[in-house]
Amino acid sequence: MSIVIDGKQVAASVIDRVKQATASLEQEAGLRPGLAVVIVGNDPASHAYVGAKSRMAKECGFTSIQHTLPEETSQEALAALVETLNADPAIHGILVQLPLPKHLQAEPIIQSIRPEKDVDGLHVVNAGKLATGDLTGGLVSCTPAGAMVLVRQVHGEDLSGLSAVVIGRSNLFGKPMATLLTAANATTTIAHSRTRDLAAVCREADILVAAVGRPMMVKADWVKPGATVIDVGINRIEAPERGEGKTRLVGDVDFQAVEAVAGVLTPVPGGVGPMTIAMLMANTLIAASRVAGRTPPRF
Ligand code: GUN
Repeated sequence: MSIVIDGKQVAASVIDRVKQATASLEQEAGLRPGLAVVIVGNDPASHAYVGAKSRMAKECGFTSIQHTLPEETSQEALAALVETLNADPAIHGILVQLPLPKHLQAEPIIQSIRPEKDVDGLHVVNAGKLATGDLTGGLVSCTPAGAMVLVRQVHGEDLSGLSAVVIGRSNLFGKPMATLLTAANATTTIAHSRTRDLAAVCREADILVAAVGRPMMVKADWVKPGATVIDVGINRIEAPERGEGKTRLVGDVDFQAVEAVAGVLTPVPGGVGPMTIAMLMANTLIAASRVAGRTPPRF
């Protein structure tokens, strides 16, 4: 049986550190971190995530602003809002929730956020800093940063000699996750939908990170016995066993089956998810600390 990592508990300890650092930033530098979260449209899952982010920002002692824009918002109107937030000295972090409605182009919007306020770590300046080995000068995408905190809980800072496989190659997760693992000295492979014999590739991994968006895709025979398995998927599936029309959340890993093989496993919900929100708070605090000319804490 695996050890199941309690992401809520690890996230709570990150949040505690953010709260303490926020209080001292305000006391000593007179600066309160500010986070603006922008959501466009009516996707219920996105609204749930954004609500949780805004609430947590308040709990941390931040100025927390949420802009909820209608589905039919134009590209120009969204761009204008980002410009306003870029220029607002009370705002240190800007997050535009993805995905955007189909008629909007996300990339120009993301690239218009000032890199110093890009708490999602998606701006090319931040992605580029990470890619070129500057792990502390920019802002790192929240979900990989949070998954990496969980990896460090198990294996420590140095992953020398360990092989890591990341399934998924997105800019939001797969690429930065692979970069972080490599920076920590793991021998890292990025696998994806076009990888030949994905199961065999995954079986080589001491650290297996799944971020594909396919419910319960990773089976027990994909996992090396004793491996650390980090499940980044959040998929809502039908759950008739809970009653008519009911649903439940599952990850990209078949938890019940993999639990018998893995050494350490993260659950869904309650694994990486809470870490994403915690690292968003950490990034906002880091961005605000830099504005105050203070060296930010490391998370
Ligand atoms: N949608 C799902 N995850 C994320 C995230 O980390 N950032 C943004 N902006 N949108 C998301």
